[in-house]
Amino acid sequence: MKMTREEKYRLIAQAKPGELAELRHKVNRCVWRQSYHIQPPTGLLNDPNGFSYYQGEYHLFYQWFPLGTDHGMKYWYHTKSADLAAWDSAGIGIEPGGPYDSHGAYSGSAIEKDGRLYLLYTGNTRDETWNRHPYQCLAWMNESGLISKLEQPVISSVPPGYTDHFRDPKVWKSGDDYYCVFGAQREGRTGAAVLYRSKDLLHWEFKGEIKTRLPRFGYMWECPDYFELDDSGVLLFCPQGLEAAGDRFNNIYQTGYVIGKPLDPLTLEFDHGPFEELDRGFDFYAAQTMQAPDGRRLLVGWMGLPDVDYPTDANGWSGCLTLPRQLTLRDGKLIQQPVPELAKLRKAMRSAEVALNNETKRLDGFEGISYELICEVAIGDAEAVGLEFRAGGREKTVLKYDGAANQIILDRSLSGKALDEINGNIRRCRCRMAAGKLKFHLFVDASSVEIFVNDGEEVFTSRIFPDPGSTEIRLFSYDGSAEFRVLKWDI
Ligand code: FRU
Repeated sequence: MKMTREEKYRLIAQAKPGELAELRHKVNRCVWRQSYHIQPPTGLLNDPNGFSYYQGEYHLFYQWFPLGTDHGMKYWYHTKSADLAAWDSAGIGIEPGGPYDSHGAYSGSAIEKDGRLYLLYTGNTRDETWNRHPYQCLAWMNESGLISKLEQPVISSVPPGYTDHFRDPKVWKSGDDYYCVFGAQREGRTGAAVLYRSKDLLHWEFKGEIKTRLPRFGYMWECPDYFELDDSGVLLFCPQGLEAAGDRFNNIYQTGYVIGKPLDPLTLEFDHGPFEELDRGFDFYAAQTMQAPDGRRLLVGWMGLPDVDYPTDANGWSGCLTLPRQLTLRDGKLIQQPVPELAKLRKAMRSAEVALNNETKRLDGFEGISYELICEVAIGDAEAVGLEFRAGGREKTVLKYDGAANQIILDRSLSGKALDEINGNIRRCRCRMAAGKLKFHLFVDASSVEIFVNDGEEVFTSRIFPDPGSTEIRLFSYDGSAEFRVLKWDI
């Protein structure tokens, strides 16, 4: 049930007596609660925020509306982990409701300086006539985990030429300077990324717009991120308002990147190639990266999208984060792989080698709801190969390689409880592969799947809402033979 504006913009302290207890009760009865993904205790989770490493631990916050599944009053909720595999809840990170974040502590990022973890975020405010005024705010966490807000914003106005859709600071350090990129909308209603520079995180100087080759590409860019990998610059952002084009841009909003020569911080020139989507699945948005102490570039995304309803809304919660992935460049393309630390989650293991000839075979003893699965296929002369998982009764989620089209296809039309039609139910993409060989690496949880194809060449991230009884795994080869090697670990 949708809330009124008044209901949406309430703090936890303004909840009605018994409201939170009732919500928790609903959440606890939900069969789609995840077992190893970060999910909200109640209410709605959206973007990952402040992904960082501080005092020997990874910190990962998320956008959180505690009182329902609408996009209401956003908090930062805090989670932390010693190993990127097991995450502990650390409670509220940033509470909104001050003069500069009266209508939400919106997305932002974190950086360590002088022994503190600084959190830079957008304070969302609305005036009496419901006009939006964004402020860029600073908070910091000390060594004991206490978070304090700076009283005044560090940036109080939107630079000339842009609308009040100006938000989502992503900060980094280069030499002695701090830089910050913001998602922005030009007055002409096109999206852009804008750069600021600072010596101390407190005083910020507007440098201008990053000069990309995408002057008219959607009406707004949300959650930008800039980083360098090997000797290339990568600008990651979420353009809103792109038209679907064949198999591309099928989600309501996109998350993708351009790669080029490193950004020139003086001229703001960024000479780059085409925009590529980061993920091929149905539910992926607002990804944020950080650099691990060992130099790896790690990424986490929201397994969800704005303006999409989810079946768990009825159970009082919605949204979860993806697993952490590590990024590398392979032949000018961003490759995403699950971090190897996730192996710590592995429990009982099973393996099988199966030869199929134009048939579908159930793997007995492989049933499961949350697990990791690696399936390597020698395709032989089969025209299509693949697997069905979370299968049972009429339900199944189908992952297929179609040889004639050279496409990977994810079909969730029979996955279980139907989703909002807005995103459709079939996704396809072409994939680079070694002749005749295919590798699917899946992380399946109670209501999601993340599929890494051919060691991260392509990734499909999707929510699915099967019946808890749909636990089978089946392999298939169509019109020919194929050999499968399967490894599965319960999680
Ligand atoms: C992206 C986004 C951000 C904003 C946040 C609010 O999903 O709209 O642009 O800061 O969510 O929750």
